[in-house]
Amino acid sequence: AALRAYGPVVATRFPLVGDVWITTTHDATAQVLKDSTIFTLRKEDGDVAGLRWWMPGLVRTIANNMLTMDEPDHTRLRSIVDEAFRRRAIVAMEPRIRAIADGLADELFAKGSPADLVQRYARILPLSVISELLGLPQADRPRFIAWANAMSSLTGIVSFFRLLFAFRKMRGYLEEQLRLARVQGGEGLIAELVQVEREGGQITPDEMVSMVFLLLAAGSETTTHLISGSIYELLRNPGLRDWLEQDWGRAGLAVEEFLRFVSPVQFSKPRYVRREVELGGVRLRKGDRVMVMLAAANMDPAVHEQPERLDLERKPNRHISFGTGIHFCLGHQLARIEGACALQALFARWPRLGLAVDPSQVHWRKRPGLRAIAKLPVVA
Ligand code: HEM
Repeated sequence: AALRAYGPVVATRFPLVGDVWITTTHDATAQVLKDSTIFTLRKEDGDVAGLRWWMPGLVRTIANNMLTMDEPDHTRLRSIVDEAFRRRAIVAMEPRIRAIADGLADELFAKGSPADLVQRYARILPLSVISELLGLPQADRPRFIAWANAMSSLTGIVSFFRLLFAFRKMRGYLEEQLRLARVQGGEGLIAELVQVEREGGQITPDEMVSMVFLLLAAGSETTTHLISGSIYELLRNPGLRDWLEQDWGRAGLAVEEFLRFVSPVQFSKPRYVRREVELGGVRLRKGDRVMVMLAAANMDPAVHEQPERLDLERKPNRHISFGTGIHFCLGHQLARIEGACALQALFARWPRLGLAVDPSQVHWRKRPGLRAIAKLPVVA
């Protein structure tokens, strides 16, 4: 809100990114995301915004995914994964997601009370769901979760090396899973992707690994923060929780508002300006960069009445938490189902669940771009 007072598009300097324009309104944010021929993810020379020469080659290869690509490469890869997704019928996964959530809720206090809801529930649920969706063997799940944890916890030089190590392990593991799927087929999205590839889908072996990595990275942490953020809000707002508990059929509506209010992805990758253009009353020059502030758009009073109010019945709810335009989130349906199942399973199993600390004492992680609760201690 403070930045919005300066205008819909504001010049600023961002750590690791440098001088950029940022959008503060819903309209300016949506315009950048929708106009993907003017606002591109790559420079004309093909460089990915945000990637630096000093970053390890492994990171650069993995970053070479459709979320960092413009048309026509983006369309080529997106159509392959869209097709694989279509064949999986995400809605049909709901009972399985519910069962996974029920199982994790049962185990919440298995290691004592208070329990950290982020680590024991909100992190494991999306990772379990995505590994099941991909078709990874259940026995590999603990290893897989340990690598994913290392990859999302960059706090210093030691964890940087842990992260690289986990990256390498995970890459080797996914390559092996792809090799197996090519030889013997199987259940799950990896096998579907291989099938689409076999039917003539244009995708290189490296792009295939990056694609699976992208699904994992984009699909797990974001959903973790949606779940932990929603539960945090319900635990500190008993009135809202009572309203929801009267009728769990309202969970889907509530999740929409949590998506807006929590805004798990606060801002997205910088876009390059391909030619001079006016945005929100400001003239941008070719070569400038723009970052879209999804979180600011979700709090824009021009679009959301009383935006600072958490209103679980909000209708219409024009949040932009999944982005818009050609990169609109591929996993939105899955995330919505996971969000609703996570709340229902948890509060059904632990109707007296409460925070073990004062809400003001809850720690938030300093994670650029993501609104992430570090730890959420709860008691039954
Ligand atoms: C893209 C948010 C869950 C897979 C995006 C984008 C946003 C987003 C904002 C667009 C970024 C941009 O334009 O720069 C979220 C949020 C989630 C969530 C808030 C959870 C609450 C998921 C899940 C999956 C997933 C569960 C996987 C199954 C993807 C993929 C893309 C994407 C593959 C790239 C699409 C493309 O480039 O065409 N997501 N996401 N997301 N998301 Fe999600």
